[in-house]
Amino acid sequence: MLHSSELQSISGQSTPIYGKLADMTTTKPGPAAIKTSVNPHPKVLVLHGPNLNLLGSREPAHYGLATLDDINLALASRGKTAGAHVETFQHNHEGALIERIHQAARDHVDFIIINPAGYTHTSVALRDALAAAAIPFIEVHLSNIYARETFRHHSYFSDSAVGVVSGLGAHGYELALEYALRHLQSISESYPNRLKAAPHGPQKTEKTH
Ligand code: DQA
Repeated sequence: MLHSSELQSISGQSTPIYGKLADMTTTKPGPAAIKTSVNPHPKVLVLHGPNLNLLGSREPAHYGLATLDDINLALASRGKTAGAHVETFQHNHEGALIERIHQAARDHVDFIIINPAGYTHTSVALRDALAAAAIPFIEVHLSNIYARETFRHHSYFSDSAVGVVSGLGAHGYELALEYALRHLQSISESYPNRLKAAPHGPQKTEKTH
């Protein structure tokens, strides 16, 4: 298990990245992080935005050489070891990502890890979908968006995320998953007898027309 000091030393970043990573490792819950229902086999959804299907060959100086399959397989394997269901989804279209978040709410997904990619800097709609789903999430970027062009410095997601990992390459996803697993574990320890009774999102209703 990683402690916040270890996470910070892995980051090797100066502020603001360091500060954001430190934020992620504190006990301060993000706006959507409060959840009291318990799932013995928590579900974590990892969402990848546009162009991330090209990882491995896309601008390796920024994004490294790991492919999306490499990343997804490592996350699924870590989830399995921890008794969690880790599902991954990549899409190049905003609407498909939004629909997947709606689905996650219906499926009672416990935690989301998202790299919104280019939509980080543009998508109010994707941000709204996460708010509607009310599932706690961590925002991940392979590159350090604060060390790049100024248009990448603004994220529509960071202020409502539990935390942000940026600039640690594919390793950032693993750190985010470790945090999510630890967060979900601490919930189940705090509420050992509570049944999963408060599903996210709208309940199924009859259509009147
Ligand atoms: C990215 C950073 C974004 O600015 C960019 O548009 C991406 C990837 C990253 O992982 O570093 O597509 O989210």
